[in-house]
Amino acid sequence: MCGIVGYIAKPENSGEASREYFALDVVLEGLRRLEYRGYDSAGVAVYADGAIDWRKKAGKVAKLEEEIAQRPLADSVLGIGHTRWATHGGPSDINSHPHVVAGGKLAVVHNGIIENFAELKTELTELGYNFVSETDTEVAATALAHAFEQERDLTRAMRKVCQRFEGAFTLLGIHADQPDRIVAARRDSPLVIGLGEGENFLGSDVSGFIDYTKQAVEMGNDQVVTITADDIAITDYEGNPAEGKSFHIEWDAAAAKKDGFGSFMEKEIHDQPAAVRDTLFGRFDEQGRLTLDEVHIEESLLKSVDKIIVIACGTAAYAGHVARYAIEHWCRIPTEVELAHEFRYRDPIVTPRTLVVALSQSGETMDTLMAVRHAREQGAKVIAICNTQGSSIPREADAALYTHAGPEIAVASTKAFLAQITATYLLGLYLAQLRGNMFTDEVQMVISELRQMPEKIEAVIDNKAQVAELAKSMQDATSVLFLGRHVGFPVALEGALKLKEIAYLHAEGFAAGELKHGPIALVEEGQPVFVIVPSPRGRDSLHSKVVSNIQEVRARGAITLVIAEEGDTAVEDYANHVIRIPQAPTLMQPLLATVPLQIFACVMAETKGYDVDQPRNLAKSVTVE
Ligand code: F6R
Repeated sequence: MCGIVGYIAKPENSGEASREYFALDVVLEGLRRLEYRGYDSAGVAVYADGAIDWRKKAGKVAKLEEEIAQRPLADSVLGIGHTRWATHGGPSDINSHPHVVAGGKLAVVHNGIIENFAELKTELTELGYNFVSETDTEVAATALAHAFEQERDLTRAMRKVCQRFEGAFTLLGIHADQPDRIVAARRDSPLVIGLGEGENFLGSDVSGFIDYTKQAVEMGNDQVVTITADDIAITDYEGNPAEGKSFHIEWDAAAAKKDGFGSFMEKEIHDQPAAVRDTLFGRFDEQGRLTLDEVHIEESLLKSVDKIIVIACGTAAYAGHVARYAIEHWCRIPTEVELAHEFRYRDPIVTPRTLVVALSQSGETMDTLMAVRHAREQGAKVIAICNTQGSSIPREADAALYTHAGPEIAVASTKAFLAQITATYLLGLYLAQLRGNMFTDEVQMVISELRQMPEKIEAVIDNKAQVAELAKSMQDATSVLFLGRHVGFPVALEGALKLKEIAYLHAEGFAAGELKHGPIALVEEGQPVFVIVPSPRGRDSLHSKVVSNIQEVRARGAITLVIAEEGDTAVEDYANHVIRIPQAPTLMQPLLATVPLQIFACVMAETKGYDVDQPRNLAKSVTVE
C-alpha cells in the first residue's frame, strides 16, 4: 500500500550531454510502475534552484501529470514521489503526499501508519507547530523538521524521530539545506535501494527503478539509509553502521509493460505458461532430481518435520489450500492452511518440528510478515515462497523459494497464483524425495506432468473467446456461484474472489459436497453456477459426485458453466455450457481450471466498464494490518 520513489544524481551528470532524464522523469516513471500499490492520490517533490517545489493531487498518477503539465516543475537531480492508498485522512489534495513543512524546506513521503501520531501531534502543537492535513504523515514530517532544527542534519534527525515513532512505516525526506541526499527509514514496511553510476534510487519495490538499474540492495528493519548521488550509508536508529544485502534484479523492465494487451491482468493471464515454466526452471540436477538449492534448512530438520502450516492471505491462501492436497498426499505430513491474520491471534500449536510455509506474491503482506515472526518466535522453521526480490518476508524467513512469475502489476492476482501452486508442489515433492515417501521415479513422473502444464495452460488461454462470450452474455447477473471438490474447491474460491474484486459482483465459492448443507437454497431460476469437474480418470468417485452436483443445481434452474476435461462426455447432459480444459491428473488441474475463471472475471469487469487493474478500494501489497 502506497508506492514510494526517490532519485538523486550528480548535478554535473544532469546536463543535456550526459543525461536524458531528470529527477521528475525518474520519479514519475517509478510512480506509474508503483501505482498498483495505491492509486487514490499522487505527488512529487523536487529540489531545484535552492528550494523545494512540489505538486500533489487526489486521483491517479495521470491527474498529477496533468497538474505538472499545467504548472511545470524545474529540472532537478533530486526528487521523491508517492502514490497513495489512504489510511489517515481521505483522498484529497491536501492529504496527498509529499507533506512539505518547515516553511517549504522539508518534504516527506510516507507509507504505513504512525500509530502514536496523536500524542506526537499534541506535543508538537504545544511547541507551536500547526497542521493543515488530517494525516499522520504531516505529524511525522513536522517531528522530523523539529529534530532537524536541533540536529542540523537530516540523517541524524531521521534516526532520532524514528526512535519515537510507533507502528509500521517507510519514510523518505529531502531538505533544502542538505540537497545532496535523500534520507529514508523503514520499519516493517517495504523499501529497496537501487544502485546506479552517479545516481541512486529508492523504491517501495524494484519496479520503482527497474528502468534504470538492475543492481539493488535490501535494507533491514529499523534502519535508516542516506543516499547521495554516489554513495549509500545504512545505519540502525542509533547510528551504528549496518550492511545491506546486494542482489541482481531478475525482473525485466519490459515485463512490467502491458505489451499491447488491454490490461495488465489480461497480459498476466497470458504470462502464466511462462510463470509456471520459469518457476520450474533450474530446480533439478543432471539426473533430474529436485535440488531446491535455496532451501538452506538442514535436511535432518526437514526430515523430522511433523506438521506443516501454510500461512497466507487471499489468493495466496487459496494456493496454499491447493498445496495441502498435494503435500499431504505426497509427504504424509499433516498440513494446515491458515489465514495469516488469524494464525497469530489464535495461539497456534507450533513447535520446532513445525515447518511453516509463508506464501506471498509481494513478500510484504503485513499479516503474513507478522505471522512469520510469530512462527519463528515459537521455534518453527519458515520457508517463504515469494515472487518479489528484496522484500521482507523472504528476508525474515529461514529460507526462500522464489516463484519466477515476473512483476505482477494488476491488483487481482493471476500468474502469481499458478506460480505459487507450482512452487509449493516443488517443495512437496522435495520433502517427499528427502523423506523417502516417494521413489525417485514417482517424483520424476509428477515433475514430467508439471513440465507439460505450460503448454496445456496455453491451450486453455487459446480458448478465451468462448469464455469471453459467456462473460459478456452474463453481465447482468447479480450473483455467480462456484462449486468444486478436492483441489477444485480452492479453485472455486479463487474464481469467486476474482469476480468480487474486479467485477464487484456477488460471488461465492463452495465445496460442492457442502451444497446440500445450505448453499443450494441460493439457487433459483437463471442463477449462474460454475462447476469445476475433476478428471474422470482420477481417484475414487470424485468425478461422479461432482456430476451429481451439477444435476442438483441444474434441476433447480441454475445455468451451469462446467469446466471439464477434453473427452469427459458425462457432463454434457447437465451442462448449459462446457468449457474444455486439457486432460491432466487431478492435482495438476488447478493450473488449468483457474484460467477460464480469471478470463471470465477479467472480461466481465471490462464489459461493465470497470478499471480491471486498479479495482476500487483495493491495493496490491497490503502493508498494513
Ligand atoms: C487477490 C489478491 C490478494 C492477495 C493477498 C496476498 O487477487 O491479489 O488476495 O493474494 O493480498 O498478497 P501477497 O501474495 O502479496 O501476500
